[in-house]
Amino acid sequence: MSVATLDRPEITAAEPRPGSAGRSTPVSTGPDSRQRPDRGVRSRLRELALLPPQPGFVSLAGGLPAPELIPRAAYARALGDVLADDPAAMQYGPPHEPLRERIVDLMRERGIDCDPRQVLLTSGAQQALSLAAQLLMAPGADVLTEEHVYAGLRQALLPHRPSFLTVRTDPGAGMDVDGVRALLARGARPAFIYAMADTHNPCGVRLGRERRRELVALARRFGVPVVEDDTYGLLRYDGGWLPALRALDPEWVVYAGSFSKILAPALRLGWLVLPPRLAAGAGVLKEAADLECSALTQRAVARLLRHGFAGHLDRVRAGYRRRRDAMLAALRDHFPEGARWTRPPGGFFAWVELPDGLDADRVCDEALAEARVAVVPGSVFAVAAGAPANRLRLSFSSAAPDDIRAAVARLGRLLHRRLRHD
Ligand SMILES: Cc1ncc(COP(=O)(O)O)c(C=O)c1O
Repeated sequence: MSVATLDRPEITAAEPRPGSAGRSTPVSTGPDSRQRPDRGVRSRLRELALLPPQPGFVSLAGGLPAPELIPRAAYARALGDVLADDPAAMQYGPPHEPLRERIVDLMRERGIDCDPRQVLLTSGAQQALSLAAQLLMAPGADVLTEEHVYAGLRQALLPHRPSFLTVRTDPGAGMDVDGVRALLARGARPAFIYAMADTHNPCGVRLGRERRRELVALARRFGVPVVEDDTYGLLRYDGGWLPALRALDPEWVVYAGSFSKILAPALRLGWLVLPPRLAAGAGVLKEAADLECSALTQRAVARLLRHGFAGHLDRVRAGYRRRRDAMLAALRDHFPEGARWTRPPGGFFAWVELPDGLDADRVCDEALAEARVAVVPGSVFAVAAGAPANRLRLSFSSAAPDDIRAAVARLGRLLHRRLRHD
């Protein structure tokens, strides 16, 4: 079994920094101030992630799948077949039952045993998170997260004007579950705990087996649901795997999955696996949002999963494993003494701590201008003010391995220059 490890000494100690665990983060104080910073953060991320391709420029910024790993031909066949023989594909209609059944099959890969009636189809994991928030949150409620989270989570929560309670992320073992216990034991009752047990975005870490058990036990004991974001959960590269949190507790874990990273983001198709008590209410919220996911897409994806999917996950995993390994080797070869990074067991991202004194926002600007490489500063993912300023997220998903090596070498040269001159 492999777990996320650091290639150099640990980024952070496992024990909470004073004032870290247990902090209710004053992210926002008034209606406007609550919304503006997140809008800015998200657009900075999109700006970096969606920069148009240019010669000599390499993006290590976005969470975009590699174009050659998107099964366009198989999807075209599935789409053509559905259009030819299924008139319901162009109509309004209920959720497509065969797709929900295929998702139930896919969930067994994550150790999850569920019923199609518990599967709610959504417009990507993004809508899954929004619906989960609508189901679980009252306006202004607390939400418990790690210090650095997927920026789209905050967007999904924005209408509910949340306050955040934060715990740290241990780069070797994932979310600081002791910190979660301390918060709950002190009386905090967040609407939910947001967790990425596998293939964490942005930190590229995996939650250890014992911490998983402990987290769901805490959820049960204190009656606080966990929203498990498993958007990258099927993309694991190192043999061993651990069951998803939902596999450990069907009552207290709301699970969000997606086809964006294993098939294509353009499908805008994801799902929730819900505890039975929440399933009916969630269906009503989905209907209120957009009636239903595209009937055509649902049918084409169901057909692809049945007829064009054999071997696909293995191919995709092998493709991303090559890219990850190219990035890790280049980091070892080119990054300066004092830099440390996670060794992601899956997903799309490595998380880098720069040597002391280097500011990641500034490095990102210089990387774009001087090295022609796009990377994302950790500040984009920080929930709370005061998070360390020297973290970077590097994505290995969409560039070719040679380009990844070249880009990391250019970044390394830039960092060496900065260290000489600062
Ligand atoms: C952690 C995480 N959750 C959710 C999403 C949203 O994904 P989707 O395209 O399925 O809406 C993303 C997208 O990058 C993500 O990284």
